[in-house]
Amino acid sequence: MSEALPEGVQRREFDGTERLATRGEPVYGEPTDGEWRAWNPHRSKLGAMLELGMDTALSGGETVLYLGAASGTTVSHVADFAGPTYAVEFAPRPVRDLLEAADSRERLFPLLKDARKPATYAHVVESDVDVLVQDVATRGQARVALENRQFLADDGRLLLAVKARSEDVTRAPSAVFEDVQAALSEGYEILETRTLEEYHADHLGVVARPR
Ligand SMILES: C[S@@+](CC[C@H](N)C(=O)[O-])C[C@H]1O[C@@H](n2cnc3c(N)ncnc32)[C@H](O)[C@@H]1O
Repeated sequence: MSEALPEGVQRREFDGTERLATRGEPVYGEPTDGEWRAWNPHRSKLGAMLELGMDTALSGGETVLYLGAASGTTVSHVADFAGPTYAVEFAPRPVRDLLEAADSRERLFPLLKDARKPATYAHVVESDVDVLVQDVATRGQARVALENRQFLADDGRLLLAVKARSEDVTRAPSAVFEDVQAALSEGYEILETRTLEEYHADHLGVVARPR
């Protein structure tokens, strides 16, 4: 728990347990306390990365491109403390819920787009974003991160959750993680990795910056 939390994220007590929290309208039935809502690390890889004390370099107010937004569980928390937050998701069903989460969040911009085709949203997303968050849980996770590197500022950060089983269910997760890191190094310098096992089976959290 060494690293500082971004401004707008606090550890607060909910029912006697200290948990991460942001200020905003509830989205997924999470406990609330006044305007604060608990951020469940079991349902959020970025929440797990913060809970585990990874150095995300998030300080609050950043411009964020979030890939794999699903119904908005995590990206809603991000938009509670970040600046403009572009949320890419290619499945129409979860995007309906994502739009609802965006109703009360004026800095959250849902995009029904395929993260493997960045050219289709390059005209919408501003350049030099501070943070690229990726949780697509699909084959080719390193490739998606490399293809979206173009949006990141030179001193920006990639905050990536790698799901081993999405790459190959038959291989040992550690071998998959090695391959993904090797592929990533084509465009990123990896600063920190950490297994998210405590919260998400067979997932690796990665912090990297563009090289
Ligand atoms: C593990 S879920 C994301 C959960 C979400 N990040 C959260 O914490 O609230 C992965 C999501 O990525 C989406 N996804 C997978 N491949 C994608 C792609 N190429 N473009 C956009 N979304 C994609 C899936 O449809 C799914 O909703």
